[in-house]
Amino acid sequence: MVNIAVLVSGGGTNLQALIDAEKSRIIKSGKIKLVISNNYDAYALERAKNNKIKTSIISKKECVDQNQFESKIIEELKNNKIDLIVLAGFMCILSENFTKIYDHRIINVHPSLIPSFCGEGYYGLKVHECALQKGVKVTGATVHFVNEIPDGGEIIMQKAVKILDNDTPKTLQKRVMRLAEWKILPMSVEKVSKEIESEGK
Ligand code: GAR
Repeated sequence: MVNIAVLVSGGGTNLQALIDAEKSRIIKSGKIKLVISNNYDAYALERAKNNKIKTSIISKKECVDQNQFESKIIEELKNNKIDLIVLAGFMCILSENFTKIYDHRIINVHPSLIPSFCGEGYYGLKVHECALQKGVKVTGATVHFVNEIPDGGEIIMQKAVKILDNDTPKTLQKRVMRLAEWKILPMSVEKVSKEIESEGK
C-alpha cells in the first residue's frame, strides 16, 4: 500500500474527491495518510478531520524562507513515510530542491488543458478568466507529474470540457471540477500508486 500525502490550500473539493475515491475503491493501491495545508483557514482541513486523516499546518509566512518551508514539509513527509505527494489546490510553488527529491512522486491537478493557461501566475479562478477572455471553445483539466518547471512535468491524464456561451469564470470552474478534475485526479492517483506498488516502492 502506497502512503499518500495531499497538500492543500483552500476548499479541498479535490481532496474530497480523493477521500470518496478511496471509500469507493477507485483508489485501492494507496491510502491518504496525511493532509498538509499552508493555510490555517483551509476548509480542506475540516474535510480531513471529518475523515480521521492526520493534518498538519505549515505556514510559509511563518518560515524565514522557501528553504525552511520546504524542509518542514519534507520532515513531515518523512515522519509519515509518505511515498506519493498529491498537490490538490496547493497554491505554493515548490523549488527544484524539493521536486528532485521526489522525482515522479509528486502529482498536481491543474484546471486547464496544459500547455494552455498554465505556468506561474495561472491558478484557481484566474485560469478560467483567461480561458474565457481568449475565447477558447474547449478547456479542461490536466493531471501531471511535478518537476522544477511550474506545470511543466510529464502529463498523466487530461479531460476536455466544452465552454458554454453563458459561462462565467465561476460556472466554468465548477464544471471543470465536476466533469474533469474530480474524475481524473483519483484515477491518476490510483494509476501512479499501482505503478509505485509494482516497483516495490
Ligand atoms: C482546483 O480547481 C485546482 O485545479 C486548482 O485550484 C482549485 C482548488 O480547488 N489548482 C490550481 O490552479 C493549481 N495551479 P479545491 O481546493 O476545491 O480542490
